[in-house]
Amino acid sequence: MQHIISVLQENRIFPPSPEFVRGANVSGMDAYRTLCAEAERDFEGYWARLAREFLSWHKPFTKTLDESNAPFFRWFHDGELNASYNCLDRHLPALADKVAIIFESDDGTVTRTTYRELHREVCRFANALKSIGVKTGDRVIVYMPMSVQAVVAMQACARIGATHSVVFGGFSAKSLQERIIDAGACAVITADGQFRGGREIPLKPVVDEALAMGGCEAISKVLVYQRTGSAVAMAANRDVWWEDAVAGQAETCDPVWVNAEHPLFILYTSGSTGKPKGIQHSTGGYLLWTAVTMKWVFDNRPEDVFWCTADVGWVTGHSYVCYGPLAVGGTEVIFEGVPTYPDAGRFWKICQDHRVTVFYTAPTAIRSLIKAGGDLPGKYDLSSLRVLGTVGEPINPEAWIWYNEAVGGGRCPIVDTWWQTETGGHMITPLPGATPTKPGSATLPLPGIIADIVDEAGEPVGRGKGGILVIKRPWPSMLRTIWGDPERYRKTYFPEEFKGKYYLAGDGASMDEEGYFRIVGRIDDVLNVSGHRLGTMEIESALVANTKLVAEAAVVGRPDDLTGEAIVAFVVTKGPRPTGEEALKMARELREWVAKEIGPIARPKDIRFGDNLPKTRSGKIMRRLLRAIAKGEEITQDVSTLENPAILEQLKGSV
Ligand code: WT7
Repeated sequence: MQHIISVLQENRIFPPSPEFVRGANVSGMDAYRTLCAEAERDFEGYWARLAREFLSWHKPFTKTLDESNAPFFRWFHDGELNASYNCLDRHLPALADKVAIIFESDDGTVTRTTYRELHREVCRFANALKSIGVKTGDRVIVYMPMSVQAVVAMQACARIGATHSVVFGGFSAKSLQERIIDAGACAVITADGQFRGGREIPLKPVVDEALAMGGCEAISKVLVYQRTGSAVAMAANRDVWWEDAVAGQAETCDPVWVNAEHPLFILYTSGSTGKPKGIQHSTGGYLLWTAVTMKWVFDNRPEDVFWCTADVGWVTGHSYVCYGPLAVGGTEVIFEGVPTYPDAGRFWKICQDHRVTVFYTAPTAIRSLIKAGGDLPGKYDLSSLRVLGTVGEPINPEAWIWYNEAVGGGRCPIVDTWWQTETGGHMITPLPGATPTKPGSATLPLPGIIADIVDEAGEPVGRGKGGILVIKRPWPSMLRTIWGDPERYRKTYFPEEFKGKYYLAGDGASMDEEGYFRIVGRIDDVLNVSGHRLGTMEIESALVANTKLVAEAAVVGRPDDLTGEAIVAFVVTKGPRPTGEEALKMARELREWVAKEIGPIARPKDIRFGDNLPKTRSGKIMRRLLRAIAKGEEITQDVSTLENPAILEQLKGSV
């Protein structure tokens, strides 16, 4: 695997083929530059034009951008619309019989849902939500498996103007409880369980556990979709089966017209502190960019079969499973399972069987599929593919080349899309029929996105240099605030050091001589494990919450072949430092503890025990040194300011 992680200086350039350019929605670099020039010439006019072309407004907006209360920007704020109407109703009756969703379950069963059927299911479920008392402006937690019903649940919330907050099905009861409380939710939509890789994973029991932890008294109803059929406890007066809730409900439901700024959803993500941030997105600006990027970045056409492999629990699943593909009236695949079951050819088999044309996945999945069977794509007919995409973390050039050749047959442009939960949609990415690509580079900002790289004083570093990635102008799909914590929003994303003007992405990046961006990774205490964001502080608090075993903990990342970064925890125990068998046993116990506290994705890969942690005389943990130890590097830095230099040897030697 060594060859996969080595970071080559990659200079190869891959221009799109003339045929691809000819048929593309944004055709050629001149078309790209024309759009950039339009945005530069008349910033608001450009966004207003897109908003009128791409969305259906119930009440047209007259004002495009309101900066009077920056950084709390408002877009199209006197306009009214409904996200679910834009994703469903406006495609009827023209696309009534078009397949909206091809669902493939873990065991391979396929169901197709047309726009007519999806509209009906969303309406029935929206009526069910109303009948249990959910109102416009309420928050609803969605804790669901990958399924048509997850999309129905989200769209139904949007239809009645309730704000959904999807919690990834892999999060623990504790994480779920925290989000329920922070969001002030009144209902939970869940399933009995889910199937992944031939295994059954419970969901409803986790909801029960979360609600029993206390503080969730505002939850009056739990709606339960029956997926696995396993026995689950149903609390009288609180828990209702999905089937019973929709039984007898009308098949139409008037959409509630909301203000463009109405919060469509809250999605929690990790930051530098222990407490996850509820990223609040708008309705109008958000939906606009999901639709535009579907057309431009994925070059969406009516006959496309689009497949984004992300779970609806992440922002990628919001923008490119639940909203974007439907907003443009597309056909998409939703897959319940995992890439390696029943074997590592599953993704390619799905691409073949459903004639997928545009395929979007994460570098970590690509790397694991190379490892599990690099020649497997060759065994399937992948001739339907025409665009490939990646997201979530930097893609190493070797994986890029493999994706290009083994999956794309050298004929599919690769869009390496840089964006974040906070940005709502793509920000820096190639356009498949325009941008010449360079492996490992997300290339250029989309038209209207004003990105730059600056130094610590906020000054541009210029081409050929590295620094801090910022966005210099607001954009419609940006987060609006952190739910319940506007001050944290301001401090985190528009800090004083950058004059409060620039959006700070939290990533380090460099720009080459042609202005191409290369994202290096986070500059804060955030890890990127398999494309999932995890705060080191969150994992540390989870560890020290084990008051029986843990006195102190520090968490850092180290590079990993498959997951990009791996979690390494340094732990000082309450009792004597464990060694040998005892250390292995305790490490196992603590790994499981973290998995239970946060979720299996946060389980540390390595745990090392020390009598202490390397600290300065003022008591600050020297994470820099811990990172070096985690990587197995020689420590070359000056350690004379350390209170306890001997501890380094001990930590290096421990398992
Ligand atoms: C962080 C955002 C956006 C959906 C998935 C992750 C990293 C994302 C790329 C890319 C290099 C990338 C950044 C970013 N990231 N895409 N194409 N190249 N890095 O969303 O959990 O909000 O994480 O993922 O570090 O800040 P997220």
